[in-house]
Amino acid sequence: MSRVPVFSAEQVRAAVSPERALEAVRDAFVAYARGEWTMPPKVYVPAYPAGDFRAMPALGAGHALLKWVTSFPGNPAQGLPTVMGLVLLSDASNGSLRAALDAGAVTALRTGAAAVLAAETLGRADAETAAIAGAGVNGLAAARTFVARGRDVALYDLDSEHAQRAAEELGARVATRDEALAADLLVTMTPGHEVLLAEGSLRPGQHVSLMGADGPGKAEIAVDELLRTRIFADDWEQASHNGELVHAVEAGKLERSGVTELGAVLAGEAQGRQSAEEITTFDSTGLAIQDLAIALAAIEAEDELDLPTLEL
Ligand SMILES: NC(=O)c1ccc[n+]([C@@H]2O[C@H](COP(=O)([O-])OP(=O)(O)OC[C@H]3O[C@@H](n4cnc5c(N)ncnc54)[C@H](O)[C@@H]3O)[C@@H](O)[C@H]2O)c1
Repeated sequence: MSRVPVFSAEQVRAAVSPERALEAVRDAFVAYARGEWTMPPKVYVPAYPAGDFRAMPALGAGHALLKWVTSFPGNPAQGLPTVMGLVLLSDASNGSLRAALDAGAVTALRTGAAAVLAAETLGRADAETAAIAGAGVNGLAAARTFVARGRDVALYDLDSEHAQRAAEELGARVATRDEALAADLLVTMTPGHEVLLAEGSLRPGQHVSLMGADGPGKAEIAVDELLRTRIFADDWEQASHNGELVHAVEAGKLERSGVTELGAVLAGEAQGRQSAEEITTFDSTGLAIQDLAIALAAIEAEDELDLPTLEL
């Protein structure tokens, strides 16, 4: 019989701080870029119009991971999170199950980490203002990561009362839509039903981490606005099929050579921002290697937590 520790959402957050998450996610992007970690393509299981399920595997650092997770955008109206499910971490030397973790908490930590990591890597060195558009579960995770990195952050959300409450809790500011979209470092984390960034809306030198459009039919930026920017992505395969990039690719306006992967920049294999004036964008669809990074960081802290176990 084996005992498998189970991390609730709260225990995931107790085990892994936003700063630790950022460091772990950076290392994962580098290991993936170098071919040390591998990641079979994410499988989408559509259950539209309600939402979709995703099965996300990865292998690295002697472990294998599977995340079974949702994106059900109408859920908050019913008091349920958009993103929920389970992460399973296994020992890759013998296949035994090593831990189970709440997928919503793992996702939020690694998504917030990737948004801020991309902003810090690709934004201007003298960037001052940071803002989140879409201050839901994952937008707030990005806001917490900015705060943990010592940066002031402004929140914009369609639901202004929610933004106000969240800002008070975080010690952040509420911004108007125009103010948020003009930030030096902008993170968009909306459900992707509405294009936030119309053609001509971004100004020279800005960086945008486009996080919300991570599945079919979603977009946060107009195709021609995206094409005005230097484009980065978490993974070309995923982003060109299910991310923000898909609209430009389908219109025949964007090819693989027009996109740089963030991991290649972090590994020193590709150039990031090339001038102070250019606009940089980062399209994130969310990678299982990021989840693996958080799950590995969580088990480092397992002895400090009183975790329940599954007996298998
Ligand atoms: N790229 C990734 O790795 C990744 C990871 C997790 C979630 N996501 C995606 O991010 C999106 C948000 O996920 P979540 O779990 O935070 O959802 P959520 O429902 O908790 O939050 C969404 C927030 O956006 C606000 N909003 C909706 N339309 C808006 C608009 N036009 N302008 C400003 N705010 C608006 C809502 O009021 C809500 O507060 C989803 O599309 C989800 O699939 C991406």
